[in-house]
Amino acid sequence: MKEYLNNIIFKTISQILGERDQQAFVIGGFVRDKLLGRPSKDIDVVTLGSGIELAQEVARRLLKNPKVATYKNFGTAMFRYRGVDVEFVGARKESYNRNSRKPVVENGTLEDDQRRRDFTINALAIDLHPDRFGQLVDPFGGIEDLKNQIIRTPLDPDTTYSDDPLRMLRAIRFASQLGFRITDESLDSIVRNRERIRIISMERVSEEFNKIMLSPRPSAGIKLLQKVGLLAIVFPQLEALKGIEVVDGCRHKDNFYHTMEVLDNICEHTDDLWLRWAALLHDIGKPVTKRYVKGTGWTFHGHEFVGGKMVPGIFKNLKLPMNEKMKYVQKLVMLHMRPIVLVEEIVTDSAVRRLLFEAGDDIDDLMLLCDADITSKNPDKVSRYLDNYQLVRRKLVEVEEKDRVRNWQPPISGETIIETFALPPCPAIGIIKSAIKDAILDGVIENTPEAAYQFMLQKGEELGLKPVK
Ligand code: CTP
Repeated sequence: MKEYLNNIIFKTISQILGERDQQAFVIGGFVRDKLLGRPSKDIDVVTLGSGIELAQEVARRLLKNPKVATYKNFGTAMFRYRGVDVEFVGARKESYNRNSRKPVVENGTLEDDQRRRDFTINALAIDLHPDRFGQLVDPFGGIEDLKNQIIRTPLDPDTTYSDDPLRMLRAIRFASQLGFRITDESLDSIVRNRERIRIISMERVSEEFNKIMLSPRPSAGIKLLQKVGLLAIVFPQLEALKGIEVVDGCRHKDNFYHTMEVLDNICEHTDDLWLRWAALLHDIGKPVTKRYVKGTGWTFHGHEFVGGKMVPGIFKNLKLPMNEKMKYVQKLVMLHMRPIVLVEEIVTDSAVRRLLFEAGDDIDDLMLLCDADITSKNPDKVSRYLDNYQLVRRKLVEVEEKDRVRNWQPPISGETIIETFALPPCPAIGIIKSAIKDAILDGVIENTPEAAYQFMLQKGEELGLKPVK
């Protein structure tokens, strides 16, 4: 018997099935992941008969306090056992879709249930009845497709995808996560049905998109999204990076493919979703800022600022969190051109201090992004650029050891300025505050409270203010 079936949950289910001579199977993602040797999460069980009743009986035997969540409309029931969600459902003829509001109408056979699932590799079932315990039920060639690493729908793909258009994204997500190939019929069908993705909520779209972002090589999935025409619908700003223009025989690089390379590069160094997002969006301002200047060629002047400003809108559209994660991505996009200027021999400490101050604790992530942004095909250039960034890192460390401006707060607060000059709320407070910050970052005064205090008095005097104490 398979090791993974040697588990109290399956044994309990099996015992009940034997007593009642009922049929039930573990099905879907759990089976797929076990066969692939991937970590599995939830367990889905499909039974001929009432899923709710079976769930209640299993829970009664397993749990001291058998709490079962039931969804009568869908005929499903679920409980949690030792951190695993176990869900039960009666086999049905309708499409399997827990997110659909359509109630379940007709009971079906196991095969009916399997054929209405998304992919053959997700339609594999394992019998839990004691007489056939552990036997695989695979009417649609799921095992063969697992072996050949193929994503195929059990039915005509037009039926499967129009039953639930989210599956078009799921196909691409699985291809990207598992490194599988989607059949040509499926890809053609996605192209035909792509507009139907609009009926799916953005939350579900971006959930799949983030799974692509977290896959080993997200470019595989994103290039597929582009190819079938889904990217233009769900993420037009990314689609806009694609293409090359030629003027006077002068061409710029294709920023979409460049971005894909940068994204894959950074994925070799981080699993952090938001750093990956920063790589995805680092050049997002390029299409808007693109200009052709005679004699100079193509420029994308200020693309990092324009790109940074686009980040909140993109996050909002995609229903991604509008919190510190968004701010972090925005910051990295805005700062990604800064380290390159620090490569120069005669860079001032002040420029280094400013970058440290602005990047704070995210400086290491920013440097990773800069390394990833090197996509030259010339190995000599690549190693020269990487060396340059190592030099920048050394300068950052030197200045930080000396001046400690990473995560630094200027030593004089707005409160102190208000009290010293007895000020009502007015622009002078901000002016003095940033003058102090600039004086310290530029090395005009020392980074000490005393020096800052004296500087504040001096600035106040220049503005015609008198200290009251
Ligand atoms: N399913 C489906 N169509 C969908 C979503 C799910 O047919 N749009 C079926 C598939 O058989 C899938 C099972 O429901 O295997 C469970 O779905 P879910 O838990 O969402 O996905 P998993 O396949 O388990 O994969 P993952 O956990 O990676 O999302």
